[in-house]
Amino acid sequence: MAVRYFEETKTFILETKQTTYQMKMDQYGYLLHLYYGEKIKDQDLGYLIQPKDRGFSPNPHEAGNDRTYSLDVLPQEFSSDGCGDYRKSSIEIKNGDGSTSFLGKVVGHRIYSGKYELNGLPGVFQTEKDTVDTLEICLQDQASKVMVILCYSVFEEKDMITRTVRVKNNGSKPIYINRIMSMMMDFMDAEFDFIHFNGRHTMERNMTRTPISSGVQSIESSRGASSHQHNPFVIMCRPTADEDQGDCYGFSFVYSGNFLCEIEKDQFDQTRVVFGINPRGFSYYLQPGESFDAPEVVLSYSDQGFSKLSHQYHDLYRENLCRSSYTHKERPIVINSWEATYFDFDDKKLLNIAKEAVDMGVELFVLDDGWFGKRDSDDSGLGDWSVNTDKLKNGLDDFVQKINNLGLKFGLWMEPEMVSEDSDLYRSHPEWCLKIKDRKPTRGRYQLVLDLSRKDVCDYLINSINSILDGANIEYVKWDMNRNMTDVWSSYHGYEHQGEIFHRYILGLYYILDQVILTHPDILFCGCAGGGGRFDPGMLYYHPEIWCSDNTDAINRLNIQYGTSFGYPINTIESHVSVCPNHQTARTTPLNTRGVVAMDGILGYELDSTKLSKEQKQQCREQIDIYKKYYHIIAYGDYYRLTKPYDACGYMAWQHVSKDRKEAVASLVKTEVESNEPQKYLKLKGLEADCFYKILGNDGVYSGKVLMKAGIPVPVMEQYEAWQCHIVALEV
Ligand code: DGJ
Repeated sequence: MAVRYFEETKTFILETKQTTYQMKMDQYGYLLHLYYGEKIKDQDLGYLIQPKDRGFSPNPHEAGNDRTYSLDVLPQEFSSDGCGDYRKSSIEIKNGDGSTSFLGKVVGHRIYSGKYELNGLPGVFQTEKDTVDTLEICLQDQASKVMVILCYSVFEEKDMITRTVRVKNNGSKPIYINRIMSMMMDFMDAEFDFIHFNGRHTMERNMTRTPISSGVQSIESSRGASSHQHNPFVIMCRPTADEDQGDCYGFSFVYSGNFLCEIEKDQFDQTRVVFGINPRGFSYYLQPGESFDAPEVVLSYSDQGFSKLSHQYHDLYRENLCRSSYTHKERPIVINSWEATYFDFDDKKLLNIAKEAVDMGVELFVLDDGWFGKRDSDDSGLGDWSVNTDKLKNGLDDFVQKINNLGLKFGLWMEPEMVSEDSDLYRSHPEWCLKIKDRKPTRGRYQLVLDLSRKDVCDYLINSINSILDGANIEYVKWDMNRNMTDVWSSYHGYEHQGEIFHRYILGLYYILDQVILTHPDILFCGCAGGGGRFDPGMLYYHPEIWCSDNTDAINRLNIQYGTSFGYPINTIESHVSVCPNHQTARTTPLNTRGVVAMDGILGYELDSTKLSKEQKQQCREQIDIYKKYYHIIAYGDYYRLTKPYDACGYMAWQHVSKDRKEAVASLVKTEVESNEPQKYLKLKGLEADCFYKILGNDGVYSGKVLMKAGIPVPVMEQYEAWQCHIVALEV
């Protein structure tokens, strides 16, 4: 069993192939955190706690005269406000009597095989290949009878641990949960760097690394979506850690709404990490007998730097997160109409684009925004999901048949969560959107957000989406969401429930996705929120891929895809070749470079194919051939970041290696040029040291060790040129 309890020492040990996690119930029943890291032999690590009298750190009543016992100092598994621990807490409750204390002591535990259940929330699942064991520890506050159940599922072979928290109101009065963090972890030192992925619309997930310093560092979203600004994936690592070496810990929150991750270095140079739903705007009313499930956090540890940590997340999220049949299928090469036409199209124009795309080797045509209601710009029509016959004269089904007759599959864009004020839906149901009584709602992209905390709104959407999907041969859906939330208030719910609306919205969204996706298992769903505004594991539970960014500039994409690759598998990252000058940055890059960058994900096209020359179309065809040839390595292999953004070397490089290490694809884009440049060498990774390899197009034979230690000379290149090489093991 990967989970064990030792009664004598009252220790709980979770064990994966390479890691150990240890907790201990102390003499008063508090749960202490003792260790998470490289695997160690069973041993009670309680000796690490060295009691000291710490001034101004209070002592619980039961400690009597013992002034060395303080929750303000002890490393804990779950902490609460108001009980003498002044650091960031796991929980803040408003009890029935108005007090805010929760003094959680262990009252029992349960160990079982399989994974814990999550009510209405996405989470990683066990496949028949995995051994998963679960530990649940119950903490109870004696006075209020509120109970917290800490759940841990251990994916032994994959070196991953998932955690969540369930709150049960076993008392006799209603309570408010004002803060509930899904996980907390205390480290007994503070020698860490904090890595997170921040950005903005069209420039998501830039990696930021800062040393931990005294006080609190945090990242969050209060936008109603996981957001473009911060991603719910962070790493804590030793200051010397890099891609290949050093301890690092990953924390990935499986949730698509508001989140908060706080890292606190305390007065004694200890570090606390907490991760959960953002308490801003959150207050959950719980009646006696009711319970609340928090979303889960997926933890992983690597003793060999970021590459290994990423591989662990990639393997888990590729296999255990999304149930779509497409997870393990080769994705079709799409052409998307957005950057080709925006709102200005009719069926003739679209069919011409599709016809030319067939020639390029494209397999699926995606009709983006503008096909429905009154939608000639982004200020009207959302909510009216019936085809605009000024644009598609004979309706959607007829248009799809014409696309299919060209030999292409068909995909459709939708933005079900939103409504335009200028729409029939809004005119008939103004109360169906999030807005505060007697106040004018704030607009975003001139649209309002539907109130998905309401079951009637969710059911209406499920029916309307299903009838579109069932009315034509639709094989791909791009599910978009183009604004963040404001005026989060629901006319449907009472006063005491208004602090639940952000969370209930996300639960409503998950419910809709469940219903739509379950009834359409053969459709490939692609997530999108103005590009990567909801690139999170919660969304990846439903969509096997996500449109990574509205920025299609190949050079900006290098940074965006670099940051995304830390926590998310390459076959979840949609990436398209678009035209130049690029529509977002006005930059011009060679078509080859755009192809090489888009191949570092799910390759597609987003351009007007009728405007491409014969040679350009031929080049796209070749890109698609190369991509398909190496798809198995790109989609299922191990990923290595060979450089980082703004490296002095003047290029960005990365590598995909097959799991058996017999094949690899290395790619490089020249980002900066200098006069009379020094020769550079690209050192590969992940190869078998003693195996011999050929580089296609080159006569030499090289050992894996040589390719990794001495490298390959980087050719002379102009700025923004790309170079790709294919490495194959010699058969012995
Ligand atoms: C934002 C998406 O990210 C774009 O790709 C496009 O679908 C537009 N929305 C359409 O409004």
